[in-house]
Amino acid sequence: MDVIVIEGGKPLKGSVTISGAKNSALPIFAATLLAPGEFTLENIPDLMDVRTIIKIITEFGCRVRKNGADGYTVDSTGVNNHEAPYDLVKTMRASCLALGPLVARLGRARVSLPGGCAIGERPIDQHLKGLSALGARIDISHGYVDAHVEGRLVGKHITMDLVTVTGVMNIMMAAALADGQTVIDNAAREPEVTALADFLNAMGANIRGAGTPTIVIEGVRELKPARVTNIADRVEAGTFMAAAAITGGDVDVCGVDPVNVGAISDKLRECGVTVEENGRNIHVRGGERIIPINVTTAPFPGFATDMQAQYMALMSLADGACVITETIFENRFMHVAELRRMGADITVSGKSAHVRGVKKLSGAPVMATDLRASASLAIAALAAEGETTISRVYHLDRGYEHIERKLMSLGATIRRIPGGKP
Ligand code: EPU
Repeated sequence: MDVIVIEGGKPLKGSVTISGAKNSALPIFAATLLAPGEFTLENIPDLMDVRTIIKIITEFGCRVRKNGADGYTVDSTGVNNHEAPYDLVKTMRASCLALGPLVARLGRARVSLPGGCAIGERPIDQHLKGLSALGARIDISHGYVDAHVEGRLVGKHITMDLVTVTGVMNIMMAAALADGQTVIDNAAREPEVTALADFLNAMGANIRGAGTPTIVIEGVRELKPARVTNIADRVEAGTFMAAAAITGGDVDVCGVDPVNVGAISDKLRECGVTVEENGRNIHVRGGERIIPINVTTAPFPGFATDMQAQYMALMSLADGACVITETIFENRFMHVAELRRMGADITVSGKSAHVRGVKKLSGAPVMATDLRASASLAIAALAAEGETTISRVYHLDRGYEHIERKLMSLGATIRRIPGGKP
């Protein structure tokens, strides 16, 4: 397994262009299952999770071709298989995004239940509640969810028990091809939900209200292929912003909608970081000292759980103490033990981490435990004294395109050792 070695202590300087968003690319690939024909997808990041969703839709009968540097052509004419096997699903929870489109198009979907996950239990009961409200019969046996409908799905008023991003996406995709109107209340407002709704509308769907808590979907008889340019990855952008801040650097984070990183920009400003927006570029300059500021994660437009670990790395060098509260996932503090190995002073009590800023972090061998935890370790390593070796970087590769190339272009000293042997 590859490891990444980072020699810390250099302020990042320069500009970095943000790649396409992983969490909108995945549902966009899933949505191609809804209509036969040839789709053109652009600004798709080259990531492990993207390769996994491509394998999954290929399993269902899509033909996927790379098209230029960051594009794909998906021909979904031959979709005829409705089963996603455990071997594929176990590597990525977002595989369950195939459920809604397949049951809507083929009347049947059999997808292995995703198991537990490093950051929490992550059930999919809300996905299933929604599909069942639309008329799908749901059976769970032998570790698989089997969703089945005779004829077409039928629109319904659905109130989500909690805010779920992929849950709303699944229901929205299924409802796009249902008979009649579906209303989803208490819907997730994440930009990736809006991006998916825009793509579905380009396919001929009739969806309004995405980005608000109430989404209204007028079902249509059929959808057609479309072309889409994926949005930029707000979590990658936020990660580079935090990296610029912790190293006292000066970085232009380019190509991202500032509204989508509004909560992180606001928080960084409170911490004494200069954050200036200029169109789709965000200029970030680290301050003299890092001011400790509490944060509580929340669904969009609140502070994203996907930025909690990176923010904690920054707070570990703050001039004082703060509390970071995680409200979305029950086990998303696994980076704490690794940050402590680098000299951070953090204790966890229930949903909150108490971070007492230290004067310096020191490089150490650490282990990535999930995607955003590994980003947090990389950020801490950039500011630490000496060398940090991060193992299990396949987690990082699931969500950050060309991470070492991008960091190197900003002046970081970073190298990957394939297979982990120095
Ligand atoms: N939940 C349920 N039942 C459900 C669905 C969700 O109880 O049926 C709970 C979850 O266990 C969690 C909360 O609701 O406690 C929110 O989960 P959500 O469904 O919103 O998460 P997700 O859709 O599985 C997406 C992103 C995650 C991101 C979360 C929250 C994708 C592919 N994944 O996951 O991204 O953390 O929303 O914003 O879109 C990442 O990129 O590193 C990542 C984990």
